[in-house]
Order: sequence, then C-alpha cells, then structure tokens
Amino acid sequence: GGTAHIEDYAFSFEGPFGAYDQNQLQRGLKIFTEVCSACHGLKYVPLRTLGDETGPGLPEDQVRAYAANIEVFDKSLDDYRPATPADKFPANTGVGAPDLSLMAKGRAGFHGPIGLGINQIVKGMGGPEYIASLLAGYHEAPDCAPEGFSGYYNTVFTAGGYPEECKDEHGAHTVPGSWIGMAPPLMGEDVDFDDGHSNELHHEVQDVAAFLMWAAEPKMMQRKTAGLTGVIFLSVLAVLLYLTNKRIWAPVK
Ligand code: HEM
Repeated sequence: GGTAHIEDYAFSFEGPFGAYDQNQLQRGLKIFTEVCSACHGLKYVPLRTLGDETGPGLPEDQVRAYAANIEVFDKSLDDYRPATPADKFPANTGVGAPDLSLMAKGRAGFHGPIGLGINQIVKGMGGPEYIASLLAGYHEAPDCAPEGFSGYYNTVFTAGGYPEECKDEHGAHTVPGSWIGMAPPLMGEDVDFDDGHSNELHHEVQDVAAFLMWAAEPKMMQRKTAGLTGVIFLSVLAVLLYLTNKRIWAPVK
C-alpha cells in the first residue's frame, strides 16, 4: 500500500529570498510549447508577461515572434488570426486535458498526518513539487492490475481509476497512486536547449514545473519583496517604540 511519494525538489523560488530562475523559466516555456501545449491550455496567462523581468524575461521581439506563432480566434473578425502580445495563451480542451494556468496553485504536494496540513508549514504547499513528481511518476502497471486497465499507471496521481483487483479484502489500496488519462508526456531528451542544458527527465520535470509555478503566480517576487520590506519596517518601528517607551518612563523609575 502506502501513499504517493512526492519528491521535495529544491526550487530556486523557495524561501523568503527565493527568486525565479529566468533560464529555468525559459527552458520550462520551451517544454510547455513543444510538448504540453499540444493538449493543455494556459488561457489566463497573457503572452506579454513572457517579457516580464521577474518572469521568463524574453526580449520584446521574441515575445512578439512567440505570439505570432499562435493562432487565436478573434470574435470581431469572426476568424482566426496570429496572436499578439496583448492576447492570452490559447485554451485547449480538445482531449479533456485541464487548463494549466493555475494548476501549480490548485494542487498541493504536501499534506501531513490525516490531511492536517502539518507538512505544508514546513515544506510549503508543494504545487510545483506535485507537478514534477507526477510527470516523473509513471511506472509499469503492477501485477495486480488486469491487462489493459484503462489509463497509465502513475504512483503520484491519486484521483484516477483504480482496479478492484489491486484492493485488499477491506477495500484498501495495495499499490500507490492510480491510473491517469495522460500518457507519459516526457521521457527525457524531449527538447533540446540552445545552451546545451541537460534535458534528462529529472531536469525537464523541474523546469516545466517551475514555469507553471510562474504562470500561476507571476508576481511572487514582488510579493516577497513587499513582505520583506514590511518586516524590516516593522522591526525598525519596534526598536523605536521600545526606546521611546524607556524614555517616557525614565523619570518615574
Ligand atoms: C492532466 C501536466 C502534457 C493530456 C495533467 C495534469 C497536469 C498535467 C499537472 C493534472 C493532474 C491532476 O489532475 O492532478 C502536463 C504537462 C505536460 C503535459 C506539464 C507537458 C510536459 C500532456 C499531453 C497530453 C496531456 C501532451 C495529451 C497527449 C492530459 C490529460 C489529463 C492531463 C487528458 C487529464 C488526466 C486525468 O485526469 O486522468 N497534465 N501535461 N498532457 N493531461 Fe497533461
């Protein structure tokens, strides 16, 4: 039995000083474009944000060129036209694949004893860890499963189909995970990077997961900076209040 194992990957954007790794986001974008976008949409993400300094940071001409490769339906023209940076990534629901815009925030990687969420306090929500682990979580179907059981066996995906044959007499699952409707999208060496960066599976899954984290939370860096500024400001204020307080009460003591 046992539950799904989610790898606690060390992403650059973790912790109070964490930041997105621009090169990693660009690699993730390439994987999304060449592999995932065949089935998945990213319909809430504006194409212009590919140029964001705290995001993938593509130069303006590359953002425009990227957009021009995408066809979007324009209601006012009642026809398709090449996208511009003002458009969003297209939706894609053709094969029933969910939109990935918010997936990194819609899934948690870490839970805790009886779902209390204790591990989330220590390790964070783990959306990108979940996605990376899911993409690396495909295995040969266990022996208990009947031949040709629908879907692909994945030890991290828990919401899919599960054969009766793999349950014990109490109905408990004897193997982790379940059967998912997505064929393994990455096998390693699926894309080539211009800078020769490794395209081994364990790198690819982290790169595309980091990209999807950025897609779901493009302002994470600004949020952290604002939070840190607030903490520093309040620390200074606390010291001043302490000293003021001492001074006010000095004659009485
Ligand atoms: C589901 C990511 C490529 C088809 C999903 C989910 C994620 C994901 C995170 C949701 C899992 C969940 O509900 O917890 C990706 C990434 C891809 C990729 C990052 C590229 C590296 C593809 C491709 C196809 C596809 C190429 C089609 C050939 C599907 C389908 C589902 C799904 C049908 C729903 C599965 C189910 O609920 O059983 N994908 N995907 N995906 N994906 Fe993908």
